[in-house]
Amino acid sequence: MQSMALTFHPKSLNKMSVYVRTLTINDIDKIIELENACFPEAERATPAKFRYRLHVCGELSHGLFTLSKPHPDTPKGVSDFQPKEILIAMISATKTTSPVITEASMRIPHDLLEKYGAEKSTVTLAVAQPQASESQNTPPTTSTQPGADSQASTTTTAESSETAKKTVQESTPAVEGHVEHGETVCLHSLCVDPTYRNNGYSQVLLKDFCQRMKDAGLSKRIALICRKETTGVYTKSQLFRYKGNSSVTHGGVSWVDMVYEYTTPPKGRGAAARA
Ligand SMILES: CC(C)(COP(=O)(O)OP(=O)(O)OC[C@H]1O[C@@H](n2cnc3c(N)ncnc32)[C@H](O)[C@@H]1OP(=O)(O)O)[C@@H](O)C(=O)NCCC(=O)NCCS
Repeated sequence: MQSMALTFHPKSLNKMSVYVRTLTINDIDKIIELENACFPEAERATPAKFRYRLHVCGELSHGLFTLSKPHPDTPKGVSDFQPKEILIAMISATKTTSPVITEASMRIPHDLLEKYGAEKSTVTLAVAQPQASESQNTPPTTSTQPGADSQASTTTTAESSETAKKTVQESTPAVEGHVEHGETVCLHSLCVDPTYRNNGYSQVLLKDFCQRMKDAGLSKRIALICRKETTGVYTKSQLFRYKGNSSVTHGGVSWVDMVYEYTTPPKGRGAAARA
């Protein structure tokens, strides 16, 4: 993707030119720094996950950048100042065949863990015993070690009346990681450098990403999970719809599903057309 100057001047009077480009492995240090500044440890994607995603589907990871400026006192015309790119915001994504984000879609495929520098650790699962009245189809709750490149899978075997702690080898029947023919883009993270927040940059990057994904014609929707209290970030775009609680337990917290179906008209437009 070509870099694209947006000459966008958001809410503040601090006018600054920004542009969007796809992220590459050369950006890895900036990406890790931004992820660390934006998410608590338990919720962060690991460096291995970024390396994996940039390698297998780098076209789905986008960064919003600006260029550093010379010091205001620098005499004009005589400076050999070289502007540096500053990563203001980023989106990291993969694709899946599921209509919403799943635990498996967030992982690195098991056989590629070592290649991308993730530890092949044993994962401890807390497997909840279904109540007698519950349907046999009710999935057990699981928890994974936060922050790790966990490859945990759920198990349906209820072995004791109490919550059973099991140590299992990493394995899962679900397809893990990026699926090239998947029709759902999984937006795994959207974040903005704390220095640049409240200027509308999340919306600039999100809307640009949604438009590019839709225009590419290679997927049908964009799905993400977020905390209930941050759904406003996505509904503000007028593209994403709330789809209820997510089954994902990443970081040991509750998440909700948000989905942008390309065929659904943006909120407001349909209403106006019907009026
Ligand atoms: C959430 C985040 C991406 C917002 O970035 P931003 O550039 O400051 O947001 P914007 O200035 O574009 O705000 C757009 C809208 O999002 C909403 N919003 C912004 N930050 C929010 C937050 N922390 N919680 C809830 N809603 C928020 C507001 O409704 C705002 O609309 P308004 O201008 O009418 O008030 C940024 O604070 C961040 O990176 N946080 C840490 C990571 C994170 O939580 N990511 C998203 C959830 S997975």
